[in-house]
Amino acid sequence: MIVEPTHPALADLTQQLAGLSEIDALRKLAGLFPGQVVFSTSLGYEDQIITDMILANNIPIRIFTLDTGRMFSETYSVWQKTNARYSTIIEAYFPEQTAVEKLMTNKGPYSMYDSVENRKECCGIRKIEPLNRALAGQKIWITGIRAEQSANRQTMTQLEPDPAHDLVKFHPLMDWTFGQVKQYVHDHNVPYNPLHDRGFVSIGCQPCTRAIQPGEDFRAGRWWWEDNSKKECGLHTHEEAFKP
Ligand code: ADX
Ligand code: SF4
Repeated sequence: MIVEPTHPALADLTQQLAGLSEIDALRKLAGLFPGQVVFSTSLGYEDQIITDMILANNIPIRIFTLDTGRMFSETYSVWQKTNARYSTIIEAYFPEQTAVEKLMTNKGPYSMYDSVENRKECCGIRKIEPLNRALAGQKIWITGIRAEQSANRQTMTQLEPDPAHDLVKFHPLMDWTFGQVKQYVHDHNVPYNPLHDRGFVSIGCQPCTRAIQPGEDFRAGRWWWEDNSKKECGLHTHEEAFKP
């Protein structure tokens, strides 16, 4: 794997985190890159665990969410509950006003169903552009990705370079099973999105997320009308960062 010279040295980091618990690894990264480690939360199960690990242990890592403007009301509720439970502030990144106005005016509120191109345009405006702002100047980006979630994610490693954002991504729960996730949430009484009790596993925007049936793939409820191979919104592809 090629690491650009400006990225924190991946091999060195891998060595420094070897054998550490998830909490110790988060603490270590926060110490190595003060003020330059961020965690992006979608407020789903996995992300709530990482939020709990960071806040219950006072680890100085900034937490933000991309508020696309199309989230479920249940997601806003768990956001509110999380702020209250941990006496914290989850930072909001919102899409650029003019771009949203133009999109809604020209194409209406459900253009994402018309074509992959339109769907990616909406994700670009509502997620990728705000993400780029949130990650500017950061060295480490923490996410709640798990290998079990999709075939694509099985090819990812716990620490991986992200040349598009000029940083390294760290996925502390990469090897966790869904059973472990549910157990942690239960054992630590972590606030979670009530949609998880109604068949929603992976939760994104309301128009693009549905519950799944027993036996269906974890991500079957995301952009369900699209071909499996296209089901990444651009947050976690290895493509160039979206430029509006
Ligand atoms: S997505 O690419 O399909 O939307 P997914 O929902 O599986 O991603 O979440 C994977 C990780 O991406 C999360 O653990 C979180 O770190 C980040 N993420 C996804 N959606 C958001 C969001 N709205 N705000 C912040 N981070 C997000
Ligand atoms: Fe738009 Fe759907 Fe992408 Fe959300 S997931 S930004 S609503 S296309």
